[in-house]
Amino acid sequence: MNSEANSGAVAGAVSSTALPEAQIVLEARSLRKTYGAGARSLTVLADANLTLRRGEMVAIVAPSGAGKSTLLHLLAALDTPTSGAVYFASKPIETNQDTTVAEFRNRIVGFLWQRHQLLPDFTATENVAMPLLLRGESFSPSMITARKWLAEVGLQDRTEHRAGELSGGEQQRVAIARALVTRPAVLLADEPTGDLDEQNAWAVFELLQRLHRAYQLTSLIATHNLALAARCDRILTLEHGVLRTRAATAAAMGTPGGEAS
Ligand SMILES: Nc1ncnc2c1ncn2[C@@H]1O[C@H](COP(=O)(O)OP(=O)(O)O)[C@@H](O)[C@H]1O
Ligand SMILES: [Mg+2]
Repeated sequence: MNSEANSGAVAGAVSSTALPEAQIVLEARSLRKTYGAGARSLTVLADANLTLRRGEMVAIVAPSGAGKSTLLHLLAALDTPTSGAVYFASKPIETNQDTTVAEFRNRIVGFLWQRHQLLPDFTATENVAMPLLLRGESFSPSMITARKWLAEVGLQDRTEHRAGELSGGEQQRVAIARALVTRPAVLLADEPTGDLDEQNAWAVFELLQRLHRAYQLTSLIATHNLALAARCDRILTLEHGVLRTRAATAAAMGTPGGEAS
């Protein structure tokens, strides 16, 4: 199942296709995140600004400890900023009348963790169905949808395997199916290939790229892998709590650039 048409059986599209072309989907404005207080406080994000337009696939490349996970958690409304705000469809998430925080987390954003966080004793199908069951959808249709998504990520022969029995690459594919089963508009991926060998990393990245296009996602991918990042529409870096375009990083060394937009 490679195309949107072929995967039409995967029902339940929410909002991803309702947004007009080039519309700003997700925005971070002056995001600041300080952990702790007093002498032990640590400001991880100082003034992070980001604009993701519909259909973009954007990479964030920054070293460990730079604040990538912190930023992605704030963008997914899994954590709250010290100041600043995240906007979805031009409205701040916290006060958005159309989309509550819970709805934003469950329906708008798909989150992919570096360590897949599957439930090892549950089958691949049960893991993928979980977000649907958690939002109150009935059991049998959820399991059917989950199996279709497993086929979409190439795991039609592993649907009844326990997650703990699968290889690292297969587990990350299950996690991708679980992140997309709710048909989110936005995919946030936190070093999704970080734990994989080079061959599996490429295979998982190429799968993400195909699904990004087929399901008209807007995707933000944190990665250490510059070769993968180079396949994205643009690359951001995160330095001293500020997001910059990669060109802007070069600017610090004498070529033109600017803050991320
Ligand atoms: N809950 C927390 N409390 C205190 N410090 C934290 C917390 N989460 C992350 N940090 C610190 O914030 C910094 C950025 O972490 P993180 O966002 O995980 O970076 P990255 O994902 O780029 O490796 C690190 O120095 C980390 O130790
Ligand atoms: Mg991280």
